[in-house]
Amino acid sequence: MFPIILSILILSTTSNAAVQDFCVADLKAAAGPTGYSCKNPATVTIDDFIFSGFRKPGNTSNTIKTAVTPASADQFPGVNGLGISVARLETEQGGLVPLHSHPGATEIAIVTQGSLVAGFISSANTVYYKSLEEGDTIVFPEGLLHFLFNSGNGTAKAIFSFSSSNPRTQLTSFALFGNDLPSDIVGKVTFLDAEVVKKYKGLLGGSR
Ligand SMILES: *[C@@H]1O[C@H](CO)[C@@H](O)[C@H](O)[C@H]1NC(C)=O
Ligand SMILES: *[C@@H]1O[C@H](CO)[C@@H](O)[C@H](O)[C@H]1NC(C)=O
Repeated sequence: MFPIILSILILSTTSNAAVQDFCVADLKAAAGPTGYSCKNPATVTIDDFIFSGFRKPGNTSNTIKTAVTPASADQFPGVNGLGISVARLETEQGGLVPLHSHPGATEIAIVTQGSLVAGFISSANTVYYKSLEEGDTIVFPEGLLHFLFNSGNGTAKAIFSFSSSNPRTQLTSFALFGNDLPSDIVGKVTFLDAEVVKKYKGLLGGSR
């Protein structure tokens, strides 16, 4: 009896990998709520399960002095439906990853070089943050706002792992000010002064 219950439990708690080995993303079709539909297995090759985008360094010549190279289903079709994906962070001295959340994934960050301050804010608005060194690992629980910045004198690097093949990312400042919601409405729903809203819309590309 016990093994039967156990196997039912395993079947009902694992992803679609329980009924098929994999579901390599068919990037030509639109994604649905559970991810991309599956590419015809007869056309799947080993290359669908390999991502080589980390061979090249990222481009950190930007205002946040940071490059995040994602390897989600869009770039790495083999992870589609497997509930997993990765990304690489490179951030120069003074660089940062602005406050953001991943609606679909818990994230683990492993610091592989340098020093980073990393933290998140719970739904009770409790802040958890700490200075991390090479070799440290932090987990950001699913959906919570979090941030990172380089606290050292040189380049810092990290590898991110996500509990989804499509974690999605919402950057708080762009959600507030990089949009076309009229400034007076943004002000009303955020308690911010309309002039402040207009200023940041100007900086972050929103319409006024
Ligand atoms: C890096 O990005 C900057 C700004 O977009 C661009 O001017 C530069 O050519 C890029 N460098 C490389 C090596 O792609
Ligand atoms: C960065 O450099 C300053 C000045 O040289 C030094 O005081 C500080 O300890 C350094 N910080 C780290 C994290 O290496």
